[in-house]
Amino acid sequence: MLSENRVLLIVSGGIAAYKSLELIRRLKERGAAVRCVLTRAGAKFVTPLSLAAISGDTVYDDLFSLTAEAEMGHIELSRDAGLLVVAPATADIMAKMAGGIADDLATTLLLATDKPVLVAPAMNVRMWEHPATRANVEMLAARGVMRVGPGVGDMACGEFGEGRMAEPDEIVEAIEAYFRGAGAAVTPSRGKSPEARRLAGRKALVTSGPTHEAIDPVRYIANRSSGKQGHAIARALARLGAETTLVSGPTNLADPAGVTVVHVETAREMLEACRKSLPVDVAVCAAAVSDWRTADAAAQKIKKNGGGGRKLELVENPDILQTLASAENLRPGLLVGFAAETEKVIANAKAKRRKKGADWILANDVSPASGTFGGDRNVIHLIDDSGVEDWPPMSKDAVAGRLAQRIAEQLAEEP
Ligand code: CTP
Repeated sequence: MLSENRVLLIVSGGIAAYKSLELIRRLKERGAAVRCVLTRAGAKFVTPLSLAAISGDTVYDDLFSLTAEAEMGHIELSRDAGLLVVAPATADIMAKMAGGIADDLATTLLLATDKPVLVAPAMNVRMWEHPATRANVEMLAARGVMRVGPGVGDMACGEFGEGRMAEPDEIVEAIEAYFRGAGAAVTPSRGKSPEARRLAGRKALVTSGPTHEAIDPVRYIANRSSGKQGHAIARALARLGAETTLVSGPTNLADPAGVTVVHVETAREMLEACRKSLPVDVAVCAAAVSDWRTADAAAQKIKKNGGGGRKLELVENPDILQTLASAENLRPGLLVGFAAETEKVIANAKAKRRKKGADWILANDVSPASGTFGGDRNVIHLIDDSGVEDWPPMSKDAVAGRLAQRIAEQLAEEP
């Protein structure tokens, strides 16, 4: 019960601000008095009216409001509360707290207060992982600022990862723990550490990008794969703690941090690099490997021959996914392939899974209308031996994050 306790809730500007309404409701249910301060950016996401209606109190949103000053000075506003809670706490407000900046009512209160502060961070995963934010979070923790979250999951921006604001129940729990005297002190997100290291001790292999098959020293056969999906998967697996090798054909992408990257050109080089990285717990074949190569690449540039056409003789390339599936005692514990289809997506993908011996196939529509090849979004159908799971349209980063989580769950079930 929180009946004796007054919470000053600062709502800063993130999409998670809508959850603060639920947070107020739950706190009030438990008998707490909640007074709200809304930042200018926060007001883009929730209105002062809705906060006032749910909290049953005045909402303060302007440092220079004379009426508010007459009713209650901003110093008293913070001193009147037992605890200051910043939810959502954006990267921006935490940076200001760390730097001692006081340029609006919320940050002035945070600088002026002598009461404990609890933050519930909410931001995009990249912002959360940025060294600036990491340093700010550490500095605030060192000064005794308590924290709940963030959690891991799908984000409103279409990405996946750490940065989701803790759920209202979790925040209420942290507040109750504080008022109980149980010392909510720096409550990292429930699950943050285990979640972030779910694949620690596991080895992963990912193929990505196209392959280039030489016709002669200046020409080659290629395809439109950008490598975005494969690179994102390698990044997501590494983020969960897997020791990850990415075997990549030629792309314009930077090597993902924390991943061992082997650069190759051809399908045969890709296969060789994959073989060398075995054994692994999981392999994800996301490369758009060229199915064919020229039977005999010319040593010199092929010349025009007086107006006539030219035939290229092609031979089939090794199938890397299929080769890994039949690698006897070196077969990856979990083998995941993609099925790039332009028609009969599910039926073709099911047949491909059987033929190649993969455990999971992620089927995606790569018809020109879908915009998948080269684009940033993907629509996935995960096919395993129990059926088909349709994923909603999401960014390639979100697909990667979701797949990495599924892989972690699957591997956790194994001895
Ligand atoms: N793959 C592979 N080696 C190849 C061809 C494909 O490892 N030589 C893998 C891809 O990385 C993908 C899966 O096999 O995980 C299916 O690729 P896809 O291009 O959809 O199928 P193909 O085998 O090329 O069949 P088709 O072109 O007939 O649809």
